[in-house]
Amino acid sequence: MIDNTEFQNKVALVTGGAMGIGKAVAKLLAARGSKVLIVDRAVQEGSLAVEEIKHLGGNAEFFKADVSNINNCSDAVKKAVELFGKLDIVSNNAGIQRYGTVESTPENEWDEVMNINLKSVYYICKFAIPHLKKTKGSIVNMTSVQAFATQRGVAAYTTSKHALIGLTRSMAIDFARDGIRVNCVAPGTVETPMLKYAAALDPNPESVYENCKNMHPIGRIAQPEEIAEVVAFLASDRASFVTGSCYLVDGGLLLPIGGEPKTSQE
Ligand SMILES: NC(=O)c1ccc[n+]([C@@H]2O[C@H](COP(=O)([O-])OP(=O)(O)OC[C@H]3O[C@@H](n4cnc5c(N)ncnc54)[C@H](O)[C@@H]3O)[C@@H](O)[C@H]2O)c1
Repeated sequence: MIDNTEFQNKVALVTGGAMGIGKAVAKLLAARGSKVLIVDRAVQEGSLAVEEIKHLGGNAEFFKADVSNINNCSDAVKKAVELFGKLDIVSNNAGIQRYGTVESTPENEWDEVMNINLKSVYYICKFAIPHLKKTKGSIVNMTSVQAFATQRGVAAYTTSKHALIGLTRSMAIDFARDGIRVNCVAPGTVETPMLKYAAALDPNPESVYENCKNMHPIGRIAQPEEIAEVVAFLASDRASFVTGSCYLVDGGLLLPIGGEPKTSQE
């Protein structure tokens, strides 16, 4: 059974916490007792997330930052420690999706994806690790099924998500003896503003949702809260021997290899 006070006296920094998966993570950690600093560039949504958490009796604050900016990341970590006195958990969720092949992706868009999805994690962790060493803290990075398999036309995104597994493993081994655990989570399709953005690029957005549902063996897409549960587990002492891992939370999306014999379709 999960103890609803398991993060009491913990301090968490959650990037991308204004919306989608990050917001669900921030809400869940706060609901289980953590003090949470939401770090995001979306001021209105970030402030709303904080209000929601406070309304439910949780403790959260918002800090406006562009995580692709090194100074913003340094300031965000400083703010968490200044507000709450220490840092135990870092949950890196901020990310963007852009579409294109290597041929069609402009250089500035390639850099934008790498800077937000990948370099931001290096920045945040660079400044967070000295504090996490003191608390024997935990880092959970948000990658994707696109770290293991890919689609047409997502060159920059899939590259950033593959690389995030490398960065996770690298930090896990570098800081294992300091008591810091570093893991990542790889979701399938999740119902968030990012999915809405992707669907809106299609002339028939509803068909995108329908296709996404059908391609998951479980027959639906995930809710952000289902991803947040796994992040909370990895951030908690319940995962005390888990480091350098990547947890798939994909409703079976990566299971099929195709070529099913006719009898199995009955
Ligand atoms: N939604 C999915 O289907 C899905 C699947 C697999 C992985 N992911 C990953 O999960 C993470 C969260 O995705 P989501 O679907 O919740 O996305 P989302 O767009 O709903 O939310 C992303 C959040 O990150 C913030 N953000 C983006 N760029 C930022 C920047 N430069 N600085 C600060 N904040 C910034 C946004 O303001 C937003 O609050 C991403 O890393 C994404 O790649 C999402």
